[in-house]
Amino acid sequence: MNTTFDQAALEQLVQPTRINKQVYINPEIFELEMDRIWGQAWIFIGHESQVRKTGDYFTTNINHKVPVVMVRDKNGKVQVLHNRCAHKGAKIVTSRSGNAPGAFRCPYHGWTFSHDGNLLKIPNESGYENTGFDLNDSCNNLQPVAQDNYKGFIFATLSSQAPDLKTWLGGTTDCFDNLCDRAPEGEVEVAGGVLRYEHDCNWKFILENLNDTMHPMVVHQSVVQSAQAYISSLDTDDIKQKAEAQIILPFGASFENFEESGITGFRYGHHYDGGKTSIHADYSVMPEYHQAMIDRYGAQRTQEIYAFNTHNTLLYPSLTIKCAVQNIRVIRPVAVDKFIVETWSFRLKGAPDEMLQRTLLYSRLINSSASMVGPDDLEVYRRMQEGLASNASQWVEMHRQYGRDQQLKDRVRGGGTSDLDVRTQYQAWRYYMLGEDYA
Ligand code: FES
Ligand SMILES: [Fe+2]
Repeated sequence: MNTTFDQAALEQLVQPTRINKQVYINPEIFELEMDRIWGQAWIFIGHESQVRKTGDYFTTNINHKVPVVMVRDKNGKVQVLHNRCAHKGAKIVTSRSGNAPGAFRCPYHGWTFSHDGNLLKIPNESGYENTGFDLNDSCNNLQPVAQDNYKGFIFATLSSQAPDLKTWLGGTTDCFDNLCDRAPEGEVEVAGGVLRYEHDCNWKFILENLNDTMHPMVVHQSVVQSAQAYISSLDTDDIKQKAEAQIILPFGASFENFEESGITGFRYGHHYDGGKTSIHADYSVMPEYHQAMIDRYGAQRTQEIYAFNTHNTLLYPSLTIKCAVQNIRVIRPVAVDKFIVETWSFRLKGAPDEMLQRTLLYSRLINSSASMVGPDDLEVYRRMQEGLASNASQWVEMHRQYGRDQQLKDRVRGGGTSDLDVRTQYQAWRYYMLGEDYA
């Protein structure tokens, strides 16, 4: 695309300890990010349990523009197809999810396509005879998007140059493994619907806030105080209400607690905080569930699974995972100052239903638009979007613990209150936006 930001100008925007405000507010930068970051990275599409039967589909976008449909074909394979008719370009599927029995039929001229994208039939086909049109030419199919999955989590990429998915995921595969290991049957499935929440600010704010552990005790102070006051007002036998309100308390954890949990960064902008401990360290054990885990894995392995306790994992730029809580958030940019986040919850196969109920409660209490925690974050994102319009300064800074990050073979480690998470993301930003490779 034509842009006023040439390579030299882009290089100046992201420096080791500061980011130019244009990265958050400039529509041209946003379009470049959609093309170069969202057009090159692996983007999370969905979980295979969202399309169980032949013809089940789920629609989404790769970035703000490119519509795709994930569908289970007749051979049981999950396909990711461009949601764009080969005839004149109409979007074939507009529902968010459903089942297309037999085939997809375009609503405009009725071309039909199999679930693996092949063109099956054209109405009044004789009009194409002797025109050079070839029904069997693959360009007349719904075009596939390169896709792969790790443990049922399906990613797709618009790039033909992307590394294979497992290489791209790097050490974050530990988080997918741990999420599945927390199920007595070793698998998870989407359950309980989706919470969809529009944010009127730049898409990167939520990613940079995810493991910003200097904010919870400030931004969420009032809700933690309210939860504490509510718990104090309860009778001793109000066990259920107390347990629910206690979900909010860890958001008031101290700087020391967060520092101890540490942050681990990887190539391509991925990272997690926690590992040995996190603010979710106490969420795992419910007696019936614990017994099911012991029966499946034995006591030692069960403890190892619980002990890998991360708070938030980011798969830059489109997915965040909470292993110990069993929910994910999926990010989709809409415009420079708008994005959508969806929270999906998972059932641990083989676990008692109360585990899913707690996950759903967590999602409602913390991540929904009607929660008491998520809207705190949105309020500060909005204030940043408004504040950054000012020319008082051109910069947003990320100095915390700079120079102290510990570079290991395939990862970098730092203190839990460091800006390592943001530095990791902007290393990826330079990789995708500038073509700057890792050392
Ligand atoms: S645009 Fe799809 S059949 Fe014509
Ligand atoms: Fe927050």
